[in-house]
Amino acid sequence: MPACTFYTTAIDYTNAPPHIGHAYEKVLTDVLARFERLRRRPVYYLTGVDQHGQKVQQSAEKEGLAPLEFAERCTAKFLDLWKTLDVQFDGWAATTHPLHKQTVQRILQRLFDAGQLYKQRHNGFYSVRQEQFLTDKERNEAGEFGPEWGQVVELEEENWYFRLSDHRDWLLGFIDSHPHFIVPAFRRTELRNAVEKLSGDLCISRPKARLSWGIELPFDSGFVTYVWFDALINYISFAGYLADPDSGLPEFRSLWPARAQVIGKDILIPAHGIYWSIMLHALGFPDDEIPTLLVHGWWNISGAKMSKSLGNTVDPAALAERYGVTALRYYLMADISTGRDADFSEERLRMRFNDELANNVGNLLNRTLNMAHRYRQGVLRRTGCQDADLVSLAGTEAPAAVAEYTKAMEQFEVDAALEAAVRLARTCNQLIEASAPWKLAKDPTLAERLDAVLYHLAESIRIIAVLLVPVLPEAARGILAQLNCPTDPALSDAGWGVLPDGHSLGAPVPLFPRLEAPPAPAD
Ligand code: MSP
Repeated sequence: MPACTFYTTAIDYTNAPPHIGHAYEKVLTDVLARFERLRRRPVYYLTGVDQHGQKVQQSAEKEGLAPLEFAERCTAKFLDLWKTLDVQFDGWAATTHPLHKQTVQRILQRLFDAGQLYKQRHNGFYSVRQEQFLTDKERNEAGEFGPEWGQVVELEEENWYFRLSDHRDWLLGFIDSHPHFIVPAFRRTELRNAVEKLSGDLCISRPKARLSWGIELPFDSGFVTYVWFDALINYISFAGYLADPDSGLPEFRSLWPARAQVIGKDILIPAHGIYWSIMLHALGFPDDEIPTLLVHGWWNISGAKMSKSLGNTVDPAALAERYGVTALRYYLMADISTGRDADFSEERLRMRFNDELANNVGNLLNRTLNMAHRYRQGVLRRTGCQDADLVSLAGTEAPAAVAEYTKAMEQFEVDAALEAAVRLARTCNQLIEASAPWKLAKDPTLAERLDAVLYHLAESIRIIAVLLVPVLPEAARGILAQLNCPTDPALSDAGWGVLPDGHSLGAPVPLFPRLEAPPAPAD
């Protein structure tokens, strides 16, 4: 078994700036990786950029730049954004890296030697935008290639093909015998239906005359490989597959198989579900080393697809600037259910932050620290008080929240995990209202109850902060610092009763100031 939990994400195209959809995928995977770190499990998070291909070549030409220069300029925007958003990855897969090229060529040579690749002349319609030949299946009801294919030209050319259809029956059997191959389960049925219809092989090359910005085929220098035989291989090339021992890359066996490859729904069929699984199989990877595909949904705008051509993309860097990284990460994780689509709305971003962080978690922290300072100089006392509400909080509600959170995170359901933490905060705010510490403070015979209430509130917030670490690393550290607790906790610290008798709390500092709508633009 691998020594590490290994997560990888789809690598982003570098022919346009990143948008909120890209940010979602990277933050989601970052949260899963941080959850493993919280559990003190070794984890490796690989992400990167897909830098080759026709679109980069064309965009570079338009700007009068060399393709590498253009790709690196775009790449810098992605790297800046991941830094801004606190996305903490361990490996960076930039497909122009020489070590990646070397592995791609080694893989191509292996498949060539094994008789999995062949050359053939083909005449047909070709979509410049999607970089693929089209068949009659791609025609719409009017018998035409729709606008989604962009410019379509008739082409005749020789190319190299991968014997995809030879593996169709294997893939059907694999899907049937591996229920966890695709998460969520409903996508598995979609994939199975697509594989049933699979016919024909995969074209893997482009003549250099047409596309020079790619990796040369090691056995035919007039061609480069394009898109999938380059991009998909990043998952293993940067994990050390077929690398020389002194390459500086990780030891492949320590990482593979990945616990999950995190991809959007648009690249399940055919890219990952069909091409990638068959590529691994053809390379000799056994069935139990074909990784799970975690297929997330899309962020839309008012139900419509976000796209550069529609001009409705949302810039995550601008949102982070306006509302802060905490609010953006929280919204991206709380307002979508993994696998489903969601509609992006700035109003909902503000609302969820204000309701759940400012008015709930933040308020709980502030009130608790203020009361502890006002009534007890900030010092907590563990008492023998056995009042039913407190026994229930410590013995039932808090452990149940931790269990629900852990189960949800293990199933990649970050929204449900957050809900468990936020619900515990709500319970605590209700406890404040019901127990009215300001009244308890007036009656010396109720001193023990007051101490117990304050202890239970502080202990609950500490647990909530531990649970928030993967999604809101900075804010969670801020809460823990105010509680005078270690700021790099483990999930095992989310058990009840860690704060000792006599523990001194820090001073309250507002962590989640309410978000306001930006002023309406002047007419
Ligand atoms: N370069 C290919 C992937 C190669 S993987 C070996 C690609 N790039 S992409 O930039 O178009 O998309 C990168 C990821 O972002 C994909 O997983 C895609 O699904 C995801 N998203 C793109 N738009 C999205 C939304 N609107 N919402 C959520 N995720 C979206 O595909």
